[in-house]
Amino acid sequence: MQVWNEYLAANKQRFLDELLDLLRIPSVSADSKYKADVARCADAVKKSLLDAGCDNAEICPTAGHPIVYGEKMIDPKLPTVLVYGHYDVQPADPLELWHSGPFEPVIKDEKIYARGACDDKGQMFMHVKALEVMVKTNTLPCNVKFMIEGEEEVGSSNLGIFLEGNKEKLKADIVLVSDTSMISMEHPSLETGLRGLAYMEVEVVGPNRDLHSGVYGGAVANPINTLAKMIASLHDENNHITIPGFYDKVQDLTEAERAALNSAPFDLNEYQNELGIKEVHGEKGYTTLERTGTRPTLDVNGIWGGYIGEGAKTVLPSKANAKISMRLVPNQSSEEISALFQKHFESIAPAGVKVTVTPHHGGEPVVTPTDSVAYKAAAKAIQTAFGKDPIPTRGGGSIPIIALFERVLGLKTVLLGFGLDNDNIHSPNEKYDVFNYFKGIETIPYFHKYLAEMSN
Ligand code: BES
Ligand code: MN
Ligand code: MN
Repeated sequence: MQVWNEYLAANKQRFLDELLDLLRIPSVSADSKYKADVARCADAVKKSLLDAGCDNAEICPTAGHPIVYGEKMIDPKLPTVLVYGHYDVQPADPLELWHSGPFEPVIKDEKIYARGACDDKGQMFMHVKALEVMVKTNTLPCNVKFMIEGEEEVGSSNLGIFLEGNKEKLKADIVLVSDTSMISMEHPSLETGLRGLAYMEVEVVGPNRDLHSGVYGGAVANPINTLAKMIASLHDENNHITIPGFYDKVQDLTEAERAALNSAPFDLNEYQNELGIKEVHGEKGYTTLERTGTRPTLDVNGIWGGYIGEGAKTVLPSKANAKISMRLVPNQSSEEISALFQKHFESIAPAGVKVTVTPHHGGEPVVTPTDSVAYKAAAKAIQTAFGKDPIPTRGGGSIPIIALFERVLGLKTVLLGFGLDNDNIHSPNEKYDVFNYFKGIETIPYFHKYLAEMSN
């Protein structure tokens, strides 16, 4: 719409500057050292909601980091959109690999570089600015509520409690989330599913103290050797996961579904080159898009033990640890898979060591409908802003809270993400293209407009 374009054009620089201000706040939820910064970021988000035209906005304390809630209600008869996003970010480590400070945002080659630029401050803030565009041009077509949390990157453990206790306040028709990716700006897409997650920590303990690796080596089980062997045994030669029962509930896609999934534009060579690898790797019998979008996985996220300082120390360590995550697909339950993992991992431990398995946070997989009014509104919004119909895809990442929106609030979600897979989220040099930021702000008002039009 003309008025939106004009308002956006007249305020472009400010919209960018405001995002950069938000990116300067190191709201790392995982590290308690940043607790005050996380709180400061929540305040900044609240203020931005009020400035954008929310009638009220508040900080909702939780047992962990606060949730920011805001709303602009114009007419109870109109549909209500609940926008969910997160203002917390992943730790920036390893710092030495950043070309500029993770919390000193810079714009280079039309890309915004900072931790959180894409995940999720940049994407979440598009909704704040889209609200401003609609409110200030008197064109808001529906009610909008915002729930922006500060614990997504640490598992959203307090958000479920917040949902349970605020069902009335959070009443809406649809949840709208921008925290996923598109194929590219030339091939706009909408993710229609997310994988679940089961995250475990394991410890293997051998002798009661670190030993001289010459005096005892060869006679006592080395916990690191043992852990490495146990981990290696979790995949077979076809890269299938060997945990008994792991695949029991996994549904195979129909040939038609597979064909549709694989018809999405994807260049294997470009993918490999961009990652600096000679060959992709994964479960035999599946394409790369199927492997990330439809198949469960098991990956070691970190492993430690023994001596890792400078030089060489001859030591047979007393213990070894690893963090292991499993991505889950529809019908798998994080609780069931965690239990299967624990039972299996304990069962393969040789007698010479003691193994402890501790489950961390989990989350359930989701599939979002493609035949709903809200999905159609999102598809039409993309068609209007990009001049192309979106391609439905399945995302490989996880947003555990999406399953809870359905279970606790009875609400479906639309995943209207504008990130790119190479935005380096969770990695050094995270970026978000300036183009994507403004394209998002341009697209979102159309979603609200079409949702309101199609709902009556
Ligand atoms: N925004 C991501 C999830 C994501 C990224 C979905 C790209 C689809 C495409 C989210 O912030 C995230 O990182 N989630 C975590 C899980 C969480 C429990 C820490 C993840 O997927 O590892
Ligand atoms: Mn995110
Ligand atoms: Mn993330």
